[in-house]
Amino acid sequence: MLEDARVYRHKPMNEQHQMLLAQAALYDQADPLAGYRDKFHFPVHTDGNPMRYFCGHSLGLQPKQVAQHVDLAMDIWRYQGFDRQFEGGKPWLKYMQDLNSSMASLVGAEAAEITVMNALTVNLHLLLASFFRPQGKRCKIVIEKGAFPSDRYAVISQLRWHGLDPEQHLIEIAPPDGQRLIDESQLEHLLEQQGHEVALVMFPGVQFLTGQFFDLPRITRAAHKAGALAGFDLAHAAGNLPMQLHDSGTDFAAWCGYKYMNGSPGTLGGCFIHARHHNNPDLVKLAGWWANAPATRFDMPVDIDWAGGADAWQISNPPLMTAAPLIAALAIHNDAGMDALRTKSLALTGYLEQLLNSMLSDHLEIITPPEPERRGCQLSVRVKAGTEAGEQLFQQLRAKGYACDWRRPDVMRIAPVPLYNTFADVRDLVVCMQTIFKQQA
Ligand SMILES: Cc1ncc(COP(=O)(O)O)c(C=O)c1O
Repeated sequence: MLEDARVYRHKPMNEQHQMLLAQAALYDQADPLAGYRDKFHFPVHTDGNPMRYFCGHSLGLQPKQVAQHVDLAMDIWRYQGFDRQFEGGKPWLKYMQDLNSSMASLVGAEAAEITVMNALTVNLHLLLASFFRPQGKRCKIVIEKGAFPSDRYAVISQLRWHGLDPEQHLIEIAPPDGQRLIDESQLEHLLEQQGHEVALVMFPGVQFLTGQFFDLPRITRAAHKAGALAGFDLAHAAGNLPMQLHDSGTDFAAWCGYKYMNGSPGTLGGCFIHARHHNNPDLVKLAGWWANAPATRFDMPVDIDWAGGADAWQISNPPLMTAAPLIAALAIHNDAGMDALRTKSLALTGYLEQLLNSMLSDHLEIITPPEPERRGCQLSVRVKAGTEAGEQLFQQLRAKGYACDWRRPDVMRIAPVPLYNTFADVRDLVVCMQTIFKQQA
């Protein structure tokens, strides 16, 4: 790995490239968030060095503080048992309320609009149970073509659950011929034509494959204008870039806590339900005892006394062992601040883009939008030589200690994460890629 990092000093290289590469050290020195890297564990490569990790879009790294939080949770369970549900240092119930507030500040929502529970796809189903209520002719769902499989499976099974044929009732918007990205105007156009048949638009915040960030307020406005509801899967957006979920007016959203939120594999997910839906008695919610207001929950009322806000969508009591790592991780995120993280992210991803475009454009094409406001950390690159060369590149990078992600047939996803990646990581990755391409030639 060190060898790769030094290649550019030893090999003759275009002067402009040398200057670009030399910027990394200056950027890292000036980085006000540089200290956060040390708060994370890095997977160790076979050579004993930490991996250069660019897979925050799949699984965020483990914050060092997590072990302490999990140990504390174990001790409380061990020594205080059931009592701690209600009292003691910080009762479990308070932990969960704090978790909602930490989440809320990261996604631009009111605390009452957030509830943290279950995993992402489970939450999508629970939210669809409330927000997909087909009636008469209005019974179609619109998603993007190429949606993450779990989202597609969820909406297809919801259609079937309502006795609707997905062949007729699922609309998938594809990018225009020969292009990779969907424009929001395509959705607007479709809704102008067929909006009277659409019950729900469910879109990603950031599209998992292309890294495109969609305009949430614009999509929501278009859906509402057509008389439909708008929901979002924010798996790749939450913790990645700032959003104003409340102001966007979107009806609901769900995301996971294990990508940019670093909350541990399969940890609890976040749900957003806009405040205007909280007191709507006609909105069907699938209930369990945890949907009951905390004040009367243990009175075991025969008829539910609904919790306020998004907590009314809770069903079961929360798993505190799963919540503990997420609590630790969100504390770091909130300490750094979403705006500061975004400022660094724009620079970090912009630097990656600059290096790729100037040094590797013969081999790679960036498919993520070039406009910074239409993307988060991730750049997705198409390997021009196709599947075999792409897989080779991915594997050789891995062998040299660089973790990226490969999606057949031709996409490599690279996410420099501002909490723990450096400009030097980005520089060394691109230099390593260049070395590999030279060896392949
Ligand atoms: C966009 C998207 N949707 C859904 C999922 C599934 O998440 P879960 O397994 O937590 O339900 C993922 C997982 O990576 C995802 O990226």
